[in-house]
Amino acid sequence: MPSTEWWRSAAIYQVYVRSFADGNGDGTGDLAGVRSRLPYLADLGVDALWFTPWYLSPLADGGYDVADYRTVDPAFGSLREAELLIAEARGLGLRCIVDIVPNHVSDQHEWFKAALAAGPGSPERELFHFRPHSPEPPNDWVSEFGGVPWSRTDDGEWYLHLFAPEQPDLNWSHPKVRREHEDVLRFWFERGAAGVRIDSAALLAKADGLPPMDPDRPHPFHDRPELHDIYRSWRRIADEYGAALIGEIWLPDAERFARYLRPDELHTAFNFDFLSRPWDPAQLWESIDLTLSTHAPVGAPATWVLANHDVTRTVTRYGRAEDTGFAFERKRFGVPTDLELGTRRARAAALLTLALPGSLYLYQGEELGLPEADVPRDRIQDPMHARSGGVDPGRDGCRVPLPWDGGGGGDGGGGGASARSWLPVPPDWSRYTAERQVHDPGSMLSLYRTALRLRRSFGDAGPLRRLRADEPRVLSFARTCERDGTTWICLTNFGPDDTALPVGAELVLASGPLAPDGRLPQDTSAWLRA
Ligand code: NOJ
Repeated sequence: MPSTEWWRSAAIYQVYVRSFADGNGDGTGDLAGVRSRLPYLADLGVDALWFTPWYLSPLADGGYDVADYRTVDPAFGSLREAELLIAEARGLGLRCIVDIVPNHVSDQHEWFKAALAAGPGSPERELFHFRPHSPEPPNDWVSEFGGVPWSRTDDGEWYLHLFAPEQPDLNWSHPKVRREHEDVLRFWFERGAAGVRIDSAALLAKADGLPPMDPDRPHPFHDRPELHDIYRSWRRIADEYGAALIGEIWLPDAERFARYLRPDELHTAFNFDFLSRPWDPAQLWESIDLTLSTHAPVGAPATWVLANHDVTRTVTRYGRAEDTGFAFERKRFGVPTDLELGTRRARAAALLTLALPGSLYLYQGEELGLPEADVPRDRIQDPMHARSGGVDPGRDGCRVPLPWDGGGGGDGGGGGASARSWLPVPPDWSRYTAERQVHDPGSMLSLYRTALRLRRSFGDAGPLRRLRADEPRVLSFARTCERDGTTWICLTNFGPDDTALPVGAELVLASGPLAPDGRLPQDTSAWLRA
C-alpha cells in the first residue's frame, strides 16, 4: 500500500489536549505537555495523533465551541507551538490530525457577535439560523444535548443551536460559510496537518425553511443530501495536500453511512456501530460483517473505535451487566460495575479490535486501562449534565487528566507539584500511572505496546476470513499477508468453557493467562501466526 494511503490501516491515538499532559502545571493539559510526551506516543507504536479542538474557545463544550479557528487557545499554547508540535511529531513518524467543527461556532466567535450587534434582518444574521420573534420556538426540533435547540437574543429573535446555546449553528447554504471552512482546511493543511476529523459531519445541512419533524419525510437536519456536495469540495482540497478527511458520523443505517465514503468524498468515518455493541460474539460479529460488507463496495477502509471523549470508558462499559452499550440517554450515576471483569474484557477487546482490517482509533488512557471516573457532582463541567437536569453524569468521567507518574491521584493530576487539575483525578489512580505500567509486562500498557508493534507487521494484511463460525461463543478470523505469506489468526473466547487454540500455529500474544492445559479461558483473546 503506498504510504500516501496511510489512513487505510493507521493506528490513530486521540489526544484530548485538556487532559493529556500538563506542561506548565496550571492544572490544564497543553501543547507543551503533548510535546514532552511525544516519545511516549512514538514508543507506544501508533502512527498518527488526532487532537481534539485546541482553538480559541470559552470551553462551554470542551472546545467544540470555537471562537477562532486560526488561533490556539492560550490555555493550550500558541499557533507557533502547534506548528512545532506537528513538525516534531512528524519527525518521530507521527502524523497529526486536527479537529474541524463546521456545524457551529462559539457564541464568542466574531461572526456571531457581529450578527447580534447588527440586529434582525441584517446580512450578518444570514450566516446563522435566526428566526423572528414569536412566543414559541420556531419548530419542534430537539437538541442533540436534549431540550429545545432554540434560544432568544436580547432583541427577541430566536437562533438555532443543535448543541448548547453557546454553540450557534452556521447556515451552510450561505456561500461565505463554505468559503470560510475551505480556507480553514487549507490553513491547517499548510501547517502540516495530515488530516482533519470533521465534527458532527452529518448535521451541517438543514432542510430549506427548517420544517417540523415529519416521519414521512427525510430528516430535516440529519444526513441531508446537500452534505455530499460539501464533502466533494473538501475532498478536492484534501487531495491537493494528500490529507485525509475523517467524518464523525452517527448514522444507524450502514449503507447511508457508506455513501459518505465514496471515492470522491471522505476517506474514512468513525464506525460507531462497533462500539455500540455489547460484549457478545454474535453482536460483535454482526457489526464486523456489516461494516466490512458496506465499506467494500465504495472501496473505503473500515475504522474501529472502542472509545472516545464522548462515551463511557471501555473497562467500565464492559464491566457492567445491565448496560454494556454507551448510549447517552442510558448514562446514569451509580451503575454497578465489575472493573476486574471489565478490564479482562477490555484486554480481549483490544486484541480483537487491533486485528481487524482497517484503521484503528485509540482514545488516550485506554492504553492505561483507565475506568470511567466518578467526578463529584460539584466538579462536573460537561453541559450534558446540566441539560439533563442533573440526571446524566455527562462525559467528564472519561475526560479526567491522565495519571502519568508519582501518586497518580489527587487534584494535581499526576502527583507533581501542579495546581488543582480541571477535573479531579481519583486517589486510587496511582495504580494506573504510565510510569508504573511501563515496566510491568502484565500491564495494559505493555499489552498495547506489544500489540501495536505486532500490528505493524500485519496491519495491511489481506481480507478477513472467519474461522470456527459454528462455535457460538468463539469469535475467530484469519488474515494473510501477501508480502510474506504469513497468516495471522485472532481468536476470542467469550466462554464460559476454555477453548483449544488452533493446532500448528504459533501463539504470539494473549490478552491473559492460558489455562494450565494450554487452552484459552473465557474473555481472553489470542494472536497466532501460521
Ligand atoms: C461531537 C463531539 O465529539 C462532542 O464532544 C461535541 O460535544 C459535539 N460534537 C458538538 O460539537
